[in-house]
Amino acid sequence: MNNANTTSMSINWYPGHMVKAQREIKESLKLIDVVVEILDSRIPYSSANPIVEELAQGKKRIVVLNKIDLADQNKIEKWEKKYKEEGKSVIKVDASKGTGIKNIITEIQRLGKEVYDAKNKKIPNPIFRALIIGIPNVGKSTIINKMANKNSAKVGNKPGVTVRKQWIRLSNNVELLDTPGILWPNLEDKNAGVNLALTGNIKQEILDVEELAVEAIKRIKEEPKYLEMLKNKYKLENDLLDILDYDIIELIGRKRGCLVSGGRVDMVKASTIFLDELKMGKIGNISFE
Ligand code: G4P
Repeated sequence: MNNANTTSMSINWYPGHMVKAQREIKESLKLIDVVVEILDSRIPYSSANPIVEELAQGKKRIVVLNKIDLADQNKIEKWEKKYKEEGKSVIKVDASKGTGIKNIITEIQRLGKEVYDAKNKKIPNPIFRALIIGIPNVGKSTIINKMANKNSAKVGNKPGVTVRKQWIRLSNNVELLDTPGILWPNLEDKNAGVNLALTGNIKQEILDVEELAVEAIKRIKEEPKYLEMLKNKYKLENDLLDILDYDIIELIGRKRGCLVSGGRVDMVKASTIFLDELKMGKIGNISFE
């Protein structure tokens, strides 16, 4: 699991890496019945990679909306409805607390059984195998660890299987591949890139910190209830809709004492504080999609 983490944080996604990641996922998919795609519930669209539709064709699909502790409940429900209409199972999860983890296992069992029933072969005690996939930082390792901690036992490599994989036994009929499929984030779409940066799903700088903070203010201004959260958090009295985005960050900086000589605001510091608090959900449950 550490492996996946280290890799995901250090990777710059060059075409060569994407091809390799895609090949690895294809190899893993040969061995599994159910694909569990992890999305950030604050940005389900931006945290998805459309290649999944192609890669996972013909497989049973579970969409996990993770980090629900940070997202806007109303928006989560809209996404849940949309995915269900597309015929996908949806599980809402807060992996840091472990909420919803058990439901993923139950759903793998249910869908796995459907796969075997459809094959119409009488296999005594079939084992249903699942793979976790998603972009870096979306919570794959946390989810695998939590699923494994429930009631797990490591099982050895399967004889006769050419790719050497480790499986984690989750129940008497469910196994999970212990290495997740790592997808590349959707950085061609500028808006998606900004959303990924605002939620901490990408660490590399796509905009400088002040520009990113301005993007955040723009998004917050679109939702009156988010604007209220911002006002409450930083005790801002003014009508923020009348104030330029950059100037709002300056106000936040003043409230936070980010001052330099001459009483000016250190805008980099102010932006950094604001973005960190936004990312950690300290302003409130804010979704960008
Ligand atoms: P990955 O394998 O997909 O790359 O993601 P990973 O599990 O490493 O999770 C990335 C970050 O997201 C971690 O925080 C993790 O704790 C956090 N995280 C995962 N699921 C949830 C969730 O449901 N809610 C919240 N609030 N956070 C979640 P980190 O700051 O990078 O590391 P750490 O502080 O946990 O060490």
